[in-house]
Amino acid sequence: MKPLKQQKIAVLMGGTSAEREVSLNSGNAVLNALRTQGYDAHPVDPKEVPVLELKQQGFERAFNILHGRGGEDGIIQGALEQIGLPYTGCDVMTSALTMDKMRTKMLWKGFGLPIAEMEIVTKENVTELNPSKIVERLGLPLMVKPSREGSSVGLTKVNAVEELTVAVETALECDDTVLIEEWLSGVEMTVPVLDNQVLPAVQIIPDGEFYDYHAKYISDNTQYICPAPLSKAREEELHRLVKAAYDAVGCRGWSRIDVMTDSKGEFRLVEVNTTPGMTNHSLFPKSAATVGYTFEKLVEKILELSV
Ligand SMILES: Nc1ncnc2c1ncn2[C@@H]1O[C@H](COP(=O)(O)OP(=O)(O)O)[C@@H](O)[C@H]1O
Ligand SMILES: [Mg+2]
Repeated sequence: MKPLKQQKIAVLMGGTSAEREVSLNSGNAVLNALRTQGYDAHPVDPKEVPVLELKQQGFERAFNILHGRGGEDGIIQGALEQIGLPYTGCDVMTSALTMDKMRTKMLWKGFGLPIAEMEIVTKENVTELNPSKIVERLGLPLMVKPSREGSSVGLTKVNAVEELTVAVETALECDDTVLIEEWLSGVEMTVPVLDNQVLPAVQIIPDGEFYDYHAKYISDNTQYICPAPLSKAREEELHRLVKAAYDAVGCRGWSRIDVMTDSKGEFRLVEVNTTPGMTNHSLFPKSAATVGYTFEKLVEKILELSV
């Protein structure tokens, strides 16, 4: 194989999902990091360039930094497999599975891994929605979210039983499957995994009631603590859990797993991000920095793990 620095590399960024802007930010940071280190890297936006033509255009490898549907859900991965172009991150199956929060959680549950108690609502059965019965089982508040979306788009915190139907309808605008979850009132963390190695957790203290779009991308008042303040024993428990969750869904290369704690302090798995944000202030690089990776070296490592 040709050395990586002699290969023409496509940095896949942008795309057509709700997270397009976030992906462009990540993509430009990745592009700069590769070029600074002497890689022959070029930006490619699948919104404008057909991915199936990348090989004809001389590309030999792809760094995928597309977020959300169309880029993080197996579709691009399938196209890259078809033309035989190695790419960073998870394969078709894992990308498709983890884009679907409902199926990811059911799989984790099947492996005996902890998730929030939840109810599943679909476009077909929404007419049978019984808010008081759900509140009786899951309590209040509740979190309502579309199964396949990202960047906290379509999420609602429900504080009263009368608010549930509207919250479900809002989430159904993003996807035809919606999760109604018990409210996890403990702490929130996100845990990067790189090359099968669990990196230090980042604790998130959102500006507002939860880590919504504003708290994620706009606010200056969301706080991040890395490494998260955990006892040695709790940290080990978290690392074992995250590795088990990563392996259960078949992740490869890198991913970031969101974890929260419930009112009793028990860990609950929330979701997997298979192409985590990679701007200079994103959480994956923040954690990797604490174990000695500069942003540039992290980008290079992810590229080296491409298959
Ligand atoms: N069950 C829950 N209880 C309380 N807050 C939640 C719950 N699920 C998610 N959240 C909050 O909503 C945010 C986004 O949820 P998440 O499932 O990670 O979706 P996304 O793909 O949009 O990031 C989380 O970072 C967290 O702050
Ligand atoms: Mg999340």
